[in-house]
Amino acid sequence: MKKIHVRVFRFDPESDEKPHYQNYVVDVNEGARVLHALQAIHDDIDPTLSFRSCCRAGQCGSCAVRVNGVPGLACMEEAIDGMTVEPLDLPVKKDLVVDLFTFLETLPRIQPCGEPIVPDREKAELIKPLRSCIECFCCISVCPAMDVTQFDGPAAMRQELRLELDPRDRKDRVTEAVSHGLFACTSCQACWKVCPKGIEIPGKAIEKLRALANKKGLTLPRHLEVAQLVRETGRSIVRTGSTFLEDSPDTIEPNGPAKATVGFFVGCMYNGRLPATARDAMEVLKRNGIRVVIPKEQVCCGSPLIRTGQTGFVDTLKKRNIDAFVSRNLDTVLTMCAGCGSTLKRDYKTPFRVMDINEVLTKFGIEPPARLPVKVTYHDPCHLLRGQGIRDEPRELITQVADLVEMPSVCCGSGGGVRSGMPEVAAALAENRKKEIERTGADIVVSSCPFCEFHIMEHTDRPVRNITSLILDGYREKDRKKAMVS
Ligand code: SF4
Ligand code: SF4
Ligand code: FES
Repeated sequence: MKKIHVRVFRFDPESDEKPHYQNYVVDVNEGARVLHALQAIHDDIDPTLSFRSCCRAGQCGSCAVRVNGVPGLACMEEAIDGMTVEPLDLPVKKDLVVDLFTFLETLPRIQPCGEPIVPDREKAELIKPLRSCIECFCCISVCPAMDVTQFDGPAAMRQELRLELDPRDRKDRVTEAVSHGLFACTSCQACWKVCPKGIEIPGKAIEKLRALANKKGLTLPRHLEVAQLVRETGRSIVRTGSTFLEDSPDTIEPNGPAKATVGFFVGCMYNGRLPATARDAMEVLKRNGIRVVIPKEQVCCGSPLIRTGQTGFVDTLKKRNIDAFVSRNLDTVLTMCAGCGSTLKRDYKTPFRVMDINEVLTKFGIEPPARLPVKVTYHDPCHLLRGQGIRDEPRELITQVADLVEMPSVCCGSGGGVRSGMPEVAAALAENRKKEIERTGADIVVSSCPFCEFHIMEHTDRPVRNITSLILDGYREKDRKKAMVS
């Protein structure tokens, strides 16, 4: 047995004006789960504590709570000394019990077709990964799109696809999903990352439903325009001046001996809309011994098409991009757009390694920049944090230049085709982000994705900088101070 300290969210709407936290010390066995600790509190200390549980084996979903801020199943998460246990971020009925009624109602149920048919093996295989949902609603509790628009949410979208694939169901689930907000999902991947059953809802349900919607002619008009632009120009962005690729040499040699050689996949946004930011990144790489090769034949990675279910042209883009880098004999390709990086890593099968610029700079190390007298907050791009699992590297770089004040890692609203297809939803999400930014009191917002940077720039009065631009500011300050001394 061991003693652990547990902090528990308490709220009884019948007697409490507002929620509060209660501290307990409980005796639990080694390896005890959070549910054991809650049960011990209830049985030995405070029988008024309310929480749900049923199977106690990760099968029913009823015990979902947040442990240290992260949604999960109380019966599966290990009880840790000092942990805080809170309800899911949903309307609270009492203590750790949340109101699930609205969400249970939105889950589509099978409408029997009346014929004795069963799914064939191929359909059954497709349905299998969607079937393991235990209706815990961890995913719904973290979905940002549901906060700002009528969207039935990830669990419901998963169910829509499951029923669409099932020949025993008679309804048109694709049209139903579209009318229940299918295109409001920003592909932020928060739902997948907290799902205790590991159901990859954005890629395995939402993008698949969007592809089926495309076959039915239900793609949003603005998404069709983007796809047309990619087919005609190889780019998903209308250029606003000369592009990064037009203005760059084929190879940028480093100052001093080369520590590494990488190919640079620039991406549509940095190429056509924010080329100055990409040039800042080149300066930082050059100063830190990285040789950069820039194949000019590269095109859009295909992410705007994949995320919106328009996959017909994607193989052509993949082949052109892979050929462009393979022809230069490159074994490492660098990305600085989180969306491109995630797409190259997860949707391509590349014969080369793909690394985000934060990985490259932390792997090879950077010359220390001057510290700047500013407080910055960092916006985690969804496709960097959840798409590529890159969390610590940007922070390691930023803290070499400035003081960092954290804010919650939530989507800004620019991804998944939402900014182009449903701008009002994207703007509402950015407004939420703006409030988080203001709460930090930071002077500058720093990020590492052109879509996030551009979108946040439009919705905040604080300057928004790319990480490499911030580092370059630090180098310029360092050079300025050096010049003054000499
Ligand atoms: S990917 Fe993000 S926006 Fe889309 S359903 Fe999941 S949590 Fe919601
Ligand atoms: S999809 Fe995963 S997180 Fe969402 S309700 Fe089902 S099991 Fe829970
Ligand atoms: S009690 Fe059933 S999943 Fe935890």
